[in-house]
Formats: sequence, C-alpha cells, structure tokens
Amino acid sequence: MRINTPSLFASTVLLAHHVAAGTASPNNPPSRNWVQRKWNGSNYACKCYAGDACWPRAPEWQALNATVGGGLRVVTPPAVSCYNTFQGPLGNISAYDAAACQAVTTGFPSEQFQVDLPAAGLWTYFTNDTCRPTTNPTDTCTLGYYPVLVITAKTTDHIQAGIKFANKNNLRLIVRNTGHDFLGRSVGWGALVINTHNFQDITVTNSWQGAGGYTGSAVTVGAGVQAFKALKTLHELSPPRVMVTGECATVGVAGGLPQGGGHGPLTNLYGFLADTALEFKVITADGVLRTANAVTNPDLFWALRGGGPASFAVIVSASYKTFVDLPSTGVILNITPAQNTNATLFWQGVTAFHGYSNHFVGKGLYVYYELVPGLVLHVQPILGIGKNATELQAILKPLFDDLNAMGLAYDTSSKSYSTFYELYNDMFETETAGQSALTGGWALAKTDVANNNAGIVSAFQNALNHGAILVGHMWNAGEGLPSREWNNSAVNPRFRSVSDKLITVLPLAGNAPLADKAAAQQTLTGVIDGGLRAAAPNGAAYVNEADPFQPNWQTAFWGTNYPALLRLRKRWDPTGVFYAVSTPGTEDWEQIEWGTRLCKKL
Ligand SMILES: Cc1cc2nc3c(=O)[nH]c(=O)nc-3n(C[C@H](O)[C@H](O)[C@H](O)COP(=O)(O)OP(=O)(O)OC[C@H]3O[C@@H](n4cnc5c(N)ncnc54)[C@H](O)[C@@H]3O)c2cc1C
Ligand SMILES: *[C@@H]1O[C@H](CO)[C@@H](O)[C@H](O)[C@H]1NC(C)=O
Ligand SMILES: *[C@@H]1O[C@H](CO)[C@@H](O)[C@H](O)[C@H]1NC(C)=O
Ligand SMILES: *[C@@H]1O[C@H](CO)[C@@H](O)[C@H](O)[C@H]1NC(C)=O
Ligand SMILES: *[C@@H]1O[C@H](CO)[C@@H](O)[C@H](O)[C@H]1NC(C)=O
Ligand SMILES: *[C@@H]1O[C@H](CO)[C@@H](O)[C@H](O)[C@H]1NC(C)=O
Ligand SMILES: *[C@@H]1O[C@H](CO)[C@@H](O)[C@H](O)[C@H]1NC(C)=O
Ligand SMILES: *[C@@H]1O[C@H](CO)[C@@H](O)[C@H](O)[C@H]1NC(C)=O
Repeated sequence: MRINTPSLFASTVLLAHHVAAGTASPNNPPSRNWVQRKWNGSNYACKCYAGDACWPRAPEWQALNATVGGGLRVVTPPAVSCYNTFQGPLGNISAYDAAACQAVTTGFPSEQFQVDLPAAGLWTYFTNDTCRPTTNPTDTCTLGYYPVLVITAKTTDHIQAGIKFANKNNLRLIVRNTGHDFLGRSVGWGALVINTHNFQDITVTNSWQGAGGYTGSAVTVGAGVQAFKALKTLHELSPPRVMVTGECATVGVAGGLPQGGGHGPLTNLYGFLADTALEFKVITADGVLRTANAVTNPDLFWALRGGGPASFAVIVSASYKTFVDLPSTGVILNITPAQNTNATLFWQGVTAFHGYSNHFVGKGLYVYYELVPGLVLHVQPILGIGKNATELQAILKPLFDDLNAMGLAYDTSSKSYSTFYELYNDMFETETAGQSALTGGWALAKTDVANNNAGIVSAFQNALNHGAILVGHMWNAGEGLPSREWNNSAVNPRFRSVSDKLITVLPLAGNAPLADKAAAQQTLTGVIDGGLRAAAPNGAAYVNEADPFQPNWQTAFWGTNYPALLRLRKRWDPTGVFYAVSTPGTEDWEQIEWGTRLCKKL
C-alpha cells in the first residue's frame, strides 16, 4: 500500500499543547491525565484522546516508537486505499491506491487476511463500518471506532513499554491478537493498540516439569498462535497429539480464548481450554512480566482461566496439556427446503433433534449446528471422537428413527478419519470475515432441556422470527473433566451442567442509523436472548460469544465466581489500565458520546 502515513512530527494534533497533569478525578490520583466530560446529565472522568491537552507530544511518541523497535504505526481502516482521503484524528491522509484497493476488496471476507492486519476487527459492527471497501473513492472514510495507533509487539519489552505508556498517559489501551472478537473488544475508538499476533513460538514436551503436579505431555504457545498452527504442530508428533481449541481454526489459542474459557470439539472430553492450562507468562498492568501457575500467583492463574479477556494481564505465552489424538467419525445432517417445505414438520424435526442434546453430550458427542430462517437446519458435524461409524450411528439411531417416523425428509452422510485432526480440517467449515452483526447467546442447562425442550424450541422460533440466526454447540464442560478440577477455572460453574451453547446473530450494518442500532440492541437483549433466558433459566452466558449489554451480565457470565473475580481485578488492575466491555470491575466505566470516549462515571 502506498499510503501517505503522517510522521509524528507532521501532525498538528500530535503536537497539541501539552498540560503536564490533566484534571484529577475524585477517584484517582492527580498525576493521571483525566479529561472531565459531561454527558447526558452526568459527570465523567475520561481517558485521554487525540486533541485533548493531555495527549502525548510528538517527542514522547517518538521515544515510544524507538522503545518498540520502530513498530508504532498510525492506524488506518483496512479499506482506506479505496478512498481518496482518510479523515483521521491525526489529520487527513491521502490514501487512494487502486491495486491495494483491489487487494483489500478481495481479501476483506478472508479471515486470515484480516487477522494479519494490525488493528482490524473481523466482525465489523463495532468498528462502526465507516470505511468499507468501495468503488467510489470520493466516499467518506473516517476512523469509526478503530484505534489510532498500534504497536506491533515482537518482544515482551515492547508490550511492557506499551502498557507503561498507556498507563502513564491514561490512554485507552486495546490488546489485539487475531481480531476475531464478536463483542468489539479488540477494537476501540481512539485507542493505542498492542498487537500480540507476532508471538508465534510453539514448543512441545513429553514431560511437563512445571508447578501443579502434572508431568505429562504439554505445549507452550506464544500469544499469537492460531488453532490451525498449534494443531498442525501437535499432529506432526509421533504419535499425533491434540489440544483443546475453538471449532474455528483461525481463532487464537492464547489470547482471548482461554481468558473467556475456550470451548471446542474436545470440550466434552477435557473441559474448556482454560481447564487444560498449566501456566501463563503475562505482563500485568504495572508493566511487570510474571509467571502465573498453580504455585506462583495462583489467584492470577485462576482469573486468567476464564475470568474475562483483557482484564487481568496481557498474555505472552500459555502452556496447555495435550492429549492423544483418536480416530473419529463425523455425521452431517441437513434439513432444507430442498428436502422439506412444511414448516410444521420442520419444527417438529427441530424439536426432536434438540430434545437429544442431553443424550448426545452424555454419550460424549460434540454437535455444531446452524438454524437459519427459511426452514434450514444445518448440522455439521455431529462429532464422535474415538468412535467409529457404527458406534456413532447407534447413538444417533433414536433421532433418525424419530425423523423417519414423522415423515420428515433429510440429507445425511457419515465419514470416519484416523485422527480427529483430519476430521477437523475436512468437516468444519471455514467462516467469513467482514460480516456485521450484533451477537448474543445463551447456554441451555441440561435440566431446562429435559423439562422444557418445547419451550426452548419456541424461543428458537421467536429468535428466527425476529431476524436472528442461531448457531448451536452441544457440549458439556463437566462431562469428561473430574469434578475436583471444575473450580480450578474461573468460568461460570453452570457450564458444567449445560448441553447446548447458542450464539444468536442479528445482522445489522455498523453504520446503520443510530435509532436502528438502538432498536436492534433492544430486540437482541430483550426479545431474542430474553426468550432464551426465560425458556432456560438455569443456563449461563459465555463471555466470548454473547450480548455484553444483557441484564446481570456479572452473574450470567461468571455466576458464583463473580465476587472473587471483582476482588482480583481490583488487586491486579486497580486503576483500569485494561478495559473490555462487561468484564469484572467495569461497572463504573462507560463509552459515552455515542460509543467513543471511555470514561468513569463520577
Ligand atoms: C468465526 C468465529 C468462531 C469462533 N469459535 C469459537 C469457538 O469454537 N469456541 C470459543 O470458545 N470461542 C469461539 N469464538 C469466539 C472467540 O473465543 C473470541 O472471538 C475470542 O475473543 C478470540 O480471541 P483472539 O485472541 O483470537 O481474538 P482478539 O479479537 O484479538 O481478542 C479477543 C479478546 O481477547 C483480548 N486479548 C487478545 N490477545 C490478548 C493477549 N495476548 N493478552 C490479553 N488479552 C488479549 C482482546 O483484548 C479482546 O478482548 C469464535 C469467534 C469467531 C469470530
Ligand atoms: C441518559 O440517561 C437516562 C437516565 O439515566 C437514560 O435512561 C438514557 O438511556 C441515557 N441516554 C443516553 C443516550 O445514554
Ligand atoms: C516509527 O518508526 C518507524 C521506523 O523509523 C517509522 O517507519 C514509523 O513511521 C514510525 N511511526 C510513526 C507513527 O511515526
Ligand atoms: C479533510 O478532508 C475533508 C474532505 O476532503 C475536508 O472537508 C476537511 O476540511 C479536511 N480537513 C483538514 C484538517 O484538512
Ligand atoms: C458511528 O455510526 C453512527 C451511525 O450508526 C454515526 O451516527 C456515528 O457518527 C458514527 N461514529 C463514529 C465515531 O464513526
Ligand atoms: C405438514 O406437517 C404436519 C405435521 O406432520 C401435517 O399435519 C400437515 O398435514 C402437513 N401439511 C402439509 C401441507 O403437508
Ligand atoms: C466399532 O467399534 C466397536 C466397539 O469398539 C467394535 O466392536 C466394532 O467392531 C467397530 N466397528 C468397525 C466397523 O470398526
Ligand atoms: C465449586 O465452588 C462452588 C462455590 O463457589 C461450590 O458451590 C461447588 O460445590 C464447587 N464445585 C465443586 C465441584 O467443587
């Protein structure tokens, strides 16, 4: 790209008059650069942004840039090269480049293309969609909710420098790894980003020597490693090994995933990714590099295992248990209008299918499915790890008997593989980046499925009637993990007794009118997810795939673990260096002025 990026000196904003100490807030020491704002009748103390008097001067940015090995860059939205001018907060930038625009237009839907950009968000709703690829270069391209500057960190020193700089200057800090986040937590208006995706080391051992008593096989991955790379490395061992990852191969395995919990095809066997963690190397809000394991900083270790992303520390590397890879079988089941156009019959079929959630997870299966308006149920795969086709078909027989008895036509196929790894690469479908939607979701308790499956399926219908798509993941994170290990992780204990974790996806452009956005948020929170919560009151919400604006998010995400997480957040990040929406201790924080400035309510 031939983008005319401004140097630090060229920018008038960066050279803005500097006031040594901004206005202090009552809750914070006067040395920090708080900006006072009034919004909707309340007073706020806000982080410092470009244009504020407290914004660091050019020499300070230059010194930071030198400390991070020249890896500091001004952020421009991914599709900036399709526009004549990027009207950013550091001044206008001439941007148009036909070849680069062509490349970004083609690459925009590719997850890996976006992962490799320094500050892109793959789900664009929370970028505000102000600068998508276009064929009209005179369109307006503005910052939206993207950050302003990014450090592409290559060493722990770079991360430490970034944290200290953000802390000292009271800047909004974003930690960004792959940018997959559904909730907009890896972007943020006006922020300084630390990108951890360059930490790509992987080491394996047969005999873990660390704290906690475990002596088996383990893998240590750098913060930026994605599932496909970790799984490939483990597959190449003899005999092949596996680890818990998400179902999506491009999600990171040491960034947001373990801090939210991290569920995947192996969860029914071994629990969350967080349950398999042995140790983290992290940098805490004070800029100190620390080890967290069962012996050293055990409270931090516990919080990092599902207590919320970007809340307690920046992860540099993570060590996990690995497991023997087993022969596996996958089944695909499709009910679409090509097979059936009778809506009554379709929903009878969905009711039968869903009624087997507890049966499936009880037999060790993992099931990934999508329910789409227009009478589409796409189940791919129903996964039996360590099971051959005969064994899997025996587990599925009651379902197929029911579908046959009701005369509902469907398509199905089955395939066995000598390892789970091969199945994972073949049967799980690749996903698309650049989509814009509000996401929510709810995990359904086994008791609710057992007692109220019909009510749950009515809530599904209600969700689809309001424009949502449902993505289901049948697993139970307590099934294969000994119960004595359940409380080693900070995830909501309710996940040990669920059988279907749903994501609700409500498509909406990030640049839709504000009134439409507010209405969609209300529909998602109150009607779509509200229906699911009412039908399955014993469930829980998964912090990495949920509506951050749901009522009682503290309890929904962490249940009985919340009070301990709140104490730990105050201990490890007392001044709020880190921020991700609806994570422990963020009750007083708000993004005022239409989702821009991050502020503490006074
Ligand atoms: C297509 C798709 C499929 C998914 N499938 C699954 C699934 O099967 N199972 C599952 O559990 N989840 C799944 N997710 C959700 C996934 O858990 C979240 O998107 C998660 O936040 C991704 O983490 P990341 O580090 O890859 O992404 P990022 O968007 O870069 O980061 C996510 C969050 O983690 C923080 N973070 C990132 N790196 C670090 C770090 N080094 N230190 C501290 N904080 C950091 C960020 O600040 C942000 O809050 C899926 C998401 C998508 C888009
Ligand atoms: C303003 O405050 C009122 C009262 O607290 C609240 O109901 C309303 O949602 C707020 N509006 C905005 C735009 O934040
Ligand atoms: C940081 O330094 C590098 C190398 O000197 C330079 O290319 C880059 O433009 C600088 N970043 C900013 C934001 O000025
Ligand atoms: C930036 O460009 C826009 C659009 O061309 C123009 O309206 C605006 O005045 C410019 N701003 C500056 C500071 O030059
Ligand atoms: C974000 O988008 C809304 C429209 O949805 C618009 O009103 C607002 O100005 C945008 N804000 C920024 C910072 O781009
Ligand atoms: C649709 O299926 C329902 C339930 O099996 C059945 O009662 C009804 O007759 C079917 N309708 C049509 C038009 O076939
Ligand atoms: C499948 O596994 C069962 C139980 O281990 C075994 O008895 C059976 O022979 C296997 N079938 C095939 C086709 O391998
Ligand atoms: C986990 O801790 C909770 C209290 O926070 C307790 O009620 C529960 O019994 C514990 N579970 C196990 C399996 O030890």
